[in-house]
Amino acid sequence: MRKSRKVFGVSFVVLMVSVLVAISFSIQAGEFTQEDLKRWDKEFMTVVMKGEKLFHSALGKNKVSCDQCHPNGANTHPETYPKFQQQIGRVVALFEMVNWCIQNPLEGDPLPPEDPKMTALLSYMTYERRGVPLAPGKH
Ligand code: HEC
Repeated sequence: MRKSRKVFGVSFVVLMVSVLVAISFSIQAGEFTQEDLKRWDKEFMTVVMKGEKLFHSALGKNKVSCDQCHPNGANTHPETYPKFQQQIGRVVALFEMVNWCIQNPLEGDPLPPEDPKMTALLSYMTYERRGVPLAPGKH
């Protein structure tokens, strides 16, 4: 009888600690204000604008810019990625196709995926297609 009370006591403490940990995590996840949302949106739009500028500038070793072949980001169909790309011969992510164009038509060096310029280009291209349903793999 005493032993089972002890087991119950320990389980109860473990349960309460888990509940407290779960509550503190959920509070952390939802902890942001309208001010935060405004600030994050502003930061995102700054990166989108930077991407738009890059899309219309020469990024490689020649004077070619993305917009000479894709008038704007929407023409690059970012919502269809990842997909099989004939030029590369396998299923690729959007940034790999951007690098293919930087290396080939633009004769430049590929950007690492975490390069802020890559993030800006991807932000601009996907922002242009916001609201379009995702269609990975589509041709
Ligand atoms: C000289 C022309 C040319 C330039 C300049 C160019 N591209 Fe491309 N791009 C292509 C061709 C050709 C394809 C392959 C078409 C295909 O397979 O859909 C392509 C495909 C793409 C795709 C995939 C499109 C799809 O529908 O799957 C993306 C994304 C892309 N380019 C981004 C860029 C970006 C970003 C730049 C500038 C850094 C750029 N391109 C510059 C010619 C160009």
